[in-house]
Amino acid sequence: MKLSANTILITGGTSGIGLELAKQLHQRQNTILVTGRDPNKLRAIHEHIPRVQTYQSDVSDPAAIAALYERVTNEFPDLNMLINNAGVMRTLRLNGRIGLQDIGREIEVDLLRPVRMIEQFLPFLKTKPHATIINTSSLLAFVPLASSPIYSAAKAGLHSYTQSLRIQLHDTNVTVIELAPPATTTPLLENLGSDSLNSKNPIVMNVEKMVRVALEQLEHDTAEIRPGMSNIMKLMSRFAPTFMLKQVNKSITSDLAKANLGEE
Ligand SMILES: NC(=O)c1ccc[n+]([C@@H]2O[C@H](COP(=O)([O-])OP(=O)(O)OC[C@H]3O[C@@H](n4cnc5c(N)ncnc54)[C@H](OP(=O)(O)O)[C@@H]3O)[C@@H](O)[C@H]2O)c1
Repeated sequence: MKLSANTILITGGTSGIGLELAKQLHQRQNTILVTGRDPNKLRAIHEHIPRVQTYQSDVSDPAAIAALYERVTNEFPDLNMLINNAGVMRTLRLNGRIGLQDIGREIEVDLLRPVRMIEQFLPFLKTKPHATIINTSSLLAFVPLASSPIYSAAKAGLHSYTQSLRIQLHDTNVTVIELAPPATTTPLLENLGSDSLNSKNPIVMNVEKMVRVALEQLEHDTAEIRPGMSNIMKLMSRFAPTFMLKQVNKSITSDLAKANLGEE
C-alpha cells in the first residue's frame, strides 16, 4: 500500500497511538485530519504537526458522526483513509453496581463507534480509486483481560466485525485493515495505574516503535497487523487457549485490582 499522498482521518488522533500515527504519517507526506473531544489536546497537536486539521467531535454520538462527515468530506474531498482509533479502557469489577447506563461505555466507544463511522463514511470511500479503513483493536481481542471485561469484549467484537467487513468489501476498492496493538506506552496504559504494565516491562512496546512497525506492515499490505506480543499472543492462544488465558490474567489482573478496583 502506498503510504504517501493520502488524506487520512484519525479518530482519537490527539494522544498516544493516534497522535503517533498522525506524526509518522505526516512525515510520510500525507494530509492529516484528527478528531478528539478535548479542545486543549486538539490545540496542542499543532506543536507536533503544524498543518494538521483538527475536529472536535465525540465519536460515541451518532449525530456528531453525521456532522463530522459533512464537514470533513466538504473540506477534504480527497479523503481516502479512515483510521478508527479512538478508544477507552477501564478496569471494572462486575459486581452489579456500575449501573445500566455506564456498564456498556466501552461497547459504545470501542465497538459501536467504528461500526457507525464506517456506516457513515463507506459510500464516500467507495467513490475513491483506492481507499483504506483501519480499525484499532487490541491484543485483548484475542485473549481477554478479566479486569477489563467490557473493553476486552468490545475489542473481540471489533476483531470479528473487521473480519466480516473485509470479506464483504473483498471485491471493492476499499481495503480493510486491523491494527491490534500490544500493551503500548500511552496515557491510556498509564491511567490504568498498573505497577507492572510500564515502560520497563519488556512486553510493553514503546509507542513510537509500535507505530513504526505497524506502518511497515501496512506498507506490505498485512491485513491483520499484530506488532510485538500481539502476534505471539494470537498464535499461542490458538495452541494453548486455557494456558494463555491464565497467563494473561495471572499477575496483571491482581495488580490492576489493587490499583483501581479496590479491595472488597
Ligand atoms: N495503549 C495500549 O496499551 C493499547 C493497546 C491495545 C489497543 N489500544 C487501542 O489503541 C487506541 C488508542 O489508544 P491509546 O492508548 O493511544 O489511548 P489514549 O492515549 O488515551 O488516546 C485515546 C484517544 O482517543 C480519544 N477519544 C477517546 N474517546 C473518544 C470519543 N468518544 N470521541 C473522540 N475521541 C475520543 C482521546 O481524545 P479525547 O480524550 O480528547 O477525546 C485520545 O485522542 C484505542 O482504541 C485503544 O483501545 C491501546
